[in-house]
Amino acid sequence: MNKRTLGKTNIAIAPIVFGGNVFGWTIDEKTSFDVLDAFVDHGFNSIDTADSYSTWVPGNKGGESETIIGRWLKARPGMREKVVIFTKVGSDLRVPGKKGLSRKWILQAVDESLARLGSETIDLYFSHWPDNTPYEETLGAYDTLLKAGKVRSIGASNLDAKQLGEALAVAKAKELPAYQVLQPEYNLYARAKFEGPLSELCQKEGVAVVTYYSLASGFLSGKYRSKADLGQSQRGEGIGKFFDERGTKILAALDAVGARHDTKPAEVALAWLLAKAGVTAPIASATKRAHVESFVKAANLKLSPDDVAALDKAGQA
Ligand SMILES: NC(=O)c1ccc[n+]([C@@H]2O[C@H](COP(=O)([O-])OP(=O)(O)OC[C@H]3O[C@@H](n4cnc5c(N)ncnc54)[C@H](OP(=O)(O)O)[C@@H]3O)[C@@H](O)[C@H]2O)c1
Repeated sequence: MNKRTLGKTNIAIAPIVFGGNVFGWTIDEKTSFDVLDAFVDHGFNSIDTADSYSTWVPGNKGGESETIIGRWLKARPGMREKVVIFTKVGSDLRVPGKKGLSRKWILQAVDESLARLGSETIDLYFSHWPDNTPYEETLGAYDTLLKAGKVRSIGASNLDAKQLGEALAVAKAKELPAYQVLQPEYNLYARAKFEGPLSELCQKEGVAVVTYYSLASGFLSGKYRSKADLGQSQRGEGIGKFFDERGTKILAALDAVGARHDTKPAEVALAWLLAKAGVTAPIASATKRAHVESFVKAANLKLSPDDVAALDKAGQA
């Protein structure tokens, strides 16, 4: 499978990243191993997780996703060298002191993530959410981790253009490592936060972009057409918000473009992201092998300019 380089890093990834928030949430360990096996068997090589996945599940405390990935890596000798692991720090783990982007917490959190992953290094370490720690302190902590070999590259998630611009400027002025990858929310339905200044800044500065909620939590697969369909997934209750006029137009455009290419809406939605200037790779999760097979079709689907224009128009706010 053709690989794309993550911005100015020397890390190459296949064009879809596995979203690991499902491990220990909507799928158990056995199914997680199965979909991860399918994912790498098809030639994909990168997995996104976070220390906080999946704190929102009753009885969980965070770290469940990293632990499942670590057990999978251990059970598959040689796999660690073949895959690229992204994880994140900064979300609230609901334990005093365990949140944010302070130097103290980052230096502790990285060791906890490495232990759960059973790994000596994290390929890409993200700041999960902006907070009020000075960029100089956070980037200084990452400098220490890069020099120690605990992380290979750094990125940020959920920053707006002003925040990313400031972080890049501080890195330059203080000769600290700069964020090389951005992880924004971006999909056919959620466009406003990324399109425009943020996307332009990433392209100008050579910052790679890996998008999250690439399938709008499954809405863009087209399997939810009315409120009666929401019971199909544990996360169905979060989908109802997409049932508005724009959501309906987007599904109609996905159906029309899908019919032209004999392919499914999920595949078209991911191919639309892959066609966007500045997007390196969408992150998407899967709960079954069939979803991973859709990722393969999406990675191979070439949309025409007319297809992209029709989808763009349907998703306009
Ligand atoms: N940086 C951040 O702040 C942040 C925030 C959120 C997420 N993320 C990252 O982004 C990743 C992706 O987000 P997400 O997993 O929440 O949502 P998503 O990728 O938009 O939606 C994926 C879900 O849609 C369903 N699905 C996938 N392919 C399908 C297909 N072909 N047909 C039908 N249904 C399909 C599956 O759920 P069901 O089978 O349950 O329907 C799957 O779990 C996360 O795993 C995480 O790594 C990052």
